[in-house]
Amino acid sequence: MVAWHGNYAPYKYDLRRFNAIGSISYDHPDPSIFLVLHSPSDTPGTSNMDFAIFPPRWLVAQDTFRPPWFHRNVASEFMGLVHGAYDAKAEGFAPGGCSLHNCMTGHGPDAATFEKASAADLSKPDVIVDTMAFMFETRAVIRPTRQAIDAAHRQRGYQACWAGLRRHFRAGG
Ligand SMILES: [Fe+2]
Repeated sequence: MVAWHGNYAPYKYDLRRFNAIGSISYDHPDPSIFLVLHSPSDTPGTSNMDFAIFPPRWLVAQDTFRPPWFHRNVASEFMGLVHGAYDAKAEGFAPGGCSLHNCMTGHGPDAATFEKASAADLSKPDVIVDTMAFMFETRAVIRPTRQAIDAAHRQRGYQACWAGLRRHFRAGG
């Protein structure tokens, strides 16, 4: 932090001290359990800005696809990885990298993560170590700069990570 404005003051928090919680039975709790800082808007349920993290933790939910699920929502999600690997994208999301899924853009684990988690032995915990991902989430649409769009290091064809998704559900099953 090199400067601040008005009543805003620099704030320092060791993210490793964040107490991650989760299900000890089945299903995913609301993702808001990962919320570190919250800036409300004038409309309940739509944040001005949220800051969430995905730290090392144990996943033990039974009868449940454990990684973050496939979804789209009103919020725009800007994510980054500080170190380690992200549990929804074991490959191709390097520390220092970031991703943007704007309002109503569908997203979820990549095909390799989906296959692995679909065949996982749920009698054992999935102990996630060496990871620290963060997310800024806002009701606003995030508009990248021209510099970001044109950057040589921007990952073109990002959606290819879902190209190999296979159906595992049977109708009427
Ligand atoms: Fe998301």
